[in-house]
Amino acid sequence: MKNIIEILNWYKLSGIDTIAADEPYNALQQTIPAENKPEVSVNSSPVRPATTLLAQESNSACLNAKEKCAQASTLDELKNILEKFEGCSLKFSANSTVFGDGNAHARVMLIGEAPGADEDRMGKPFVGRSGQLLEKMLASIGLNRRDCYISNILPWRPPGNRTPTDGEIAVCLPFLLRQIELVEPKVIFLLGASAANAILGNNESISSMRGKLMELQLNNGKKTAAFASFHPAYLLRSSAQKAKSWNDLLRLKRYLEDE
Ligand code: URA
Repeated sequence: MKNIIEILNWYKLSGIDTIAADEPYNALQQTIPAENKPEVSVNSSPVRPATTLLAQESNSACLNAKEKCAQASTLDELKNILEKFEGCSLKFSANSTVFGDGNAHARVMLIGEAPGADEDRMGKPFVGRSGQLLEKMLASIGLNRRDCYISNILPWRPPGNRTPTDGEIAVCLPFLLRQIELVEPKVIFLLGASAANAILGNNESISSMRGKLMELQLNNGKKTAAFASFHPAYLLRSSAQKAKSWNDLLRLKRYLEDE
């Protein structure tokens, strides 16, 4: 029994918080076919307390994160607070806390989804293959990473680079929003749909968001301009989209030049 609890705890720490049966079944059916019934019934009540508890924990972790972030008046203070924060289980499976990096007074802030294996090892955002392409993209419009501030929605690598859950995004978002407030960039450039959806609070595809000048309302009452474009990891797989990405970079360049 103790072993089972340890295994379940390990899954939870790794971000796996749902138990699925081997075969799919229609949960709306009154009866579950006998062969699909899980051997261990975790909870048979219609409202599963484990899920509710998780949702409650996640909700209070979000409130806690927001309160803590509001106390930070510099990026260094915010980084310290994040390093001590334990409200997101991704922290326990990651090697590093990958805070934003670059120019604290940058006019442009680039935001990706989450650290990958290289970033987790080095403790810095966008240092792997995607980062190398990102640097070339920046160079094509006369920028380098020291001109920019680079961060991610999540400061911890999800195990195996899996897609972050909504709960993980919600808990980590206050740290990113506070970075935006402290850096006060003229414009943010959102890399990929996940980053754009998380920041803009929508569910739109990257194709429908790119090419438009958008606006982000911050908690401190200020606003910042935003563009969304393809994630460099996607461009590495789909080079046919590089022409569109180039147009997006030119739009960013023109916006930065326009005072
Ligand atoms: N992909 C991201 O979204 N962020 C990184 O830091 C690296 C790869």
